[in-house]
Amino acid sequence: MLELDEYLHKYARQNARKGIAAVFVLVPEASSRTILGFYTLSATAVDAGTLSKEFLKKLPRYQHLPATLIGRLARSLGTPGRGIGEKLLINALRRSAENSAIIGSLALVVDAKNDEVKKWYLKYGFRELKSHPHRLYLPMQSIKDHLRGETAEGKAHQAGRDRRSGKSNN
Ligand SMILES: CC(C)(COP(=O)(O)OP(=O)(O)OC[C@H]1O[C@@H](n2cnc3c(N)ncnc32)[C@H](O)[C@@H]1OP(=O)(O)O)[C@@H](O)C(=O)NCCC(=O)NCCS
Repeated sequence: MLELDEYLHKYARQNARKGIAAVFVLVPEASSRTILGFYTLSATAVDAGTLSKEFLKKLPRYQHLPATLIGRLARSLGTPGRGIGEKLLINALRRSAENSAIIGSLALVVDAKNDEVKKWYLKYGFRELKSHPHRLYLPMQSIKDHLRGETAEGKAHQAGRDRRSGKSNN
């Protein structure tokens, strides 16, 4: 993907060095030379006026609220339909939720570059920010709930497998 190549070659190292964005790349287990995709995270602030009333309920009335920005997220051109985008996104969700325990962040924000990409993010529960139709956000609490659910599901699945294989936790 041109965007991926251009960003990684021209800007990634520079942006990381200057503290503009942290860059994360996805590589296959077999070879760390091939890049399947990448994403970047940065600290950002969201104007409270652009968030829904429901989201603002129970929050202090600050004009700007802390958030985490996915500045870029792209998979390589040769890997469509392999869930690479989803892997990258889930990794970004997990990392931003973990980091929010260290640096406060109420939501993950992304600027979808076109309607197609916007549809893709909406599928994962992202919502539009008021008056910014392509700027989307996902509340950090939803991310944490989702990840907790995933872990519980994993444990239940594991317990099911253990039962089938005759193991027991007792
Ligand atoms: C957007 C992007 C990251 C998606 O990655 P991908 O690897 O093609 O997507 P995945 O294979 O992970 O797709 C996961 C699911 O989303 C679906 N999907 C893919 N593109 C979609 C779209 N535009 N709208 C809705 N659903 C979409 C897939 O069919 C798949 O669904 P399934 O699990 O039911 O089969 C990728 O197309 C990309 O890099 N685009 C260009 C870069 C870009 O614009 N980045 C965004 C800037 S922030």
